[in-house]
Amino acid sequence: MDKGSWSIIVHGGAKAISPSDAEAHRQGCARAAERGAEILARGGSAVDAARRAVAMLEDDPTFNAGHGSVANAAGDIEMDAGIMDGATLAIGAVAAVVRIHNPIDAAAAMLGEPPILLVGKGAERFAYKKGLRCTPPTGASTPPEKPGHDTVGCVARDRAGHIAAATSTGGIAGTLPGRVGDAPLPGCGFYADDKVGGVSLSGDGEAIARTLLGARIVRAMEDRRAALAAQDIHEPMQRLGAEAGVIAIDAAGRIGAAHNSENFAVAFGSSEKPVIISAIHQDEWKAVLPHD
Ligand code: GLY
Repeated sequence: MDKGSWSIIVHGGAKAISPSDAEAHRQGCARAAERGAEILARGGSAVDAARRAVAMLEDDPTFNAGHGSVANAAGDIEMDAGIMDGATLAIGAVAAVVRIHNPIDAAAAMLGEPPILLVGKGAERFAYKKGLRCTPPTGASTPPEKPGHDTVGCVARDRAGHIAAATSTGGIAGTLPGRVGDAPLPGCGFYADDKVGGVSLSGDGEAIARTLLGARIVRAMEDRRAALAAQDIHEPMQRLGAEAGVIAIDAAGRIGAAHNSENFAVAFGSSEKPVIISAIHQDEWKAVLPHD
């Protein structure tokens, strides 16, 4: 892609999506990608675009993050989020937070701090000091029996060639209190490096962490374009009998995505093709993001 070009992709989680929920997933992802695309088109930063796109997904009860988070075994909501700036390799992440309305905003506020990850009350105190909205997301009280373990995320590349990746999750329904998955762990649920590319993942957090799945896809982008590199999720997930989805943008701004879950809601666009495309299965996007 030319200098000055931009690209963005968001996801709404690797999971099964019922026909009655499909439209909400397509539209929610499209709205978030459009928000990020507006920022990139007028010369805004990849970090800002990724943060705002993910905050929109957190505010949408369709998705398991922020407002739509699921409850753990104790009936509580605990959320994780992480963001990375591929220009500086700065990382910001929060985990097991209860009283932060948009966890991705707290993660983004961490980008300028020496620590990369704050958990629980320390993260909430930090968010409060930064003036962020520190109430639990309204309506985040889905009963533990809600199935699934999805997540939301965004990867963006701005006109200056900088890449950012962001991921946010409400965790796994009915899980042990205090459990933290892949979403706030760099190299697992997200990673970005301008020299190579960026990724955001969703799926079985423990399997993603045990296989360093985010790092693997980034490593694969050293030699292959994003759509090809994304296919590297399949072997490690098959080995562990787990499921995952990944979105990716390589250093040249090319977009890729892959999943072995039943569905994976995504939306993407670029300065070359600014009309946002949304989909809930890779069969729908393989014609525009070929991986063979
Ligand atoms: N992938 C989200 C989680 O496992 O927590």
